[in-house]
Amino acid sequence: MSTAGNGPGEEIALETHEISKHFGAVKAVDCLSIAIKRKGMTSIVGPNGSGKSTLMNLLSGTLPLDGGLVIIDGVGLKVVHPYDTPAHGLTRTFQEVRLFDQISVWDNIMVVLTQRRLLPALMERAKPRHKEKARSILESVGMWEKRDSLAMDLSYGQRKLLEIGRAMALDVGIYLFDEPFAGLFPQMLEQVKGILKRMRDQGLTIVFVSHNMDIVRELSDHIFVLDSGTLLAEGEVDEVLRRPDVIEAYLGV
Ligand SMILES: Nc1ncnc2c1ncn2[C@@H]1O[C@H](COP(=O)(O)OP(=O)(O)O)[C@@H](O)[C@H]1O
Ligand SMILES: [Mg+2]
Repeated sequence: MSTAGNGPGEEIALETHEISKHFGAVKAVDCLSIAIKRKGMTSIVGPNGSGKSTLMNLLSGTLPLDGGLVIIDGVGLKVVHPYDTPAHGLTRTFQEVRLFDQISVWDNIMVVLTQRRLLPALMERAKPRHKEKARSILESVGMWEKRDSLAMDLSYGQRKLLEIGRAMALDVGIYLFDEPFAGLFPQMLEQVKGILKRMRDQGLTIVFVSHNMDIVRELSDHIFVLDSGTLLAEGEVDEVLRRPDVIEAYLGV
């Protein structure tokens, strides 16, 4: 896990410098520069199509940059390789959950912990260190009881919990969550909120996208509002969400 150091600039966990991604004429992200503080919860909001998911994709290397720089933990990258981001201290979850469907919940965590391809990971699963860690992760996302179920047999909400567990298994300092609350029933939603809060309390840097303004107000220490791929506003959450230009962007008037 990466922790905050004492040097200059150490309070910034993640930064973009004039990053862009265009799809034909659509400027999904357009010359965007933001700086996300270390620790605490930062939310990214904005109307549909404002570039939130594209931003997450660029930060995590899921999509290549057209231009600009992503700076993770002080390291500037013109090309972000998705499989390298954990080594830089960052991981993400997806709006569409991605798991190994044919193996158990337990093995889905083991594969990540052992950082190996599927088969060697399964052979290695008896290691006590990994077993302890897998248990603690499954308990913290409320999936210990489900450890022997196949991932394909999980409910939508349970899949989200397991995906968060898989992200935790990478043991990084910066976590990006794209719409972690979308489509969840109230009880599951509270559970995911609790998990993110605990991660925040452990000193991790949490960045999430959500269109649920109640949750955004409740959880965010800092907020960025995107509109048409550019930064419309940023700052303390209540202050930003009161701004007339932000309200206008949401209402589309
Ligand atoms: N792979 C893609 N190909 C073409 N257009 C895309 C692609 N991904 C996103 N877009 C477009 O880019 C814009 C921003 O999309 P997105 O980042 O998904 O917005 P948000 O997550 O804020 O709803 C939208 O106009 C969307 O249609
Ligand atoms: Mg999106």
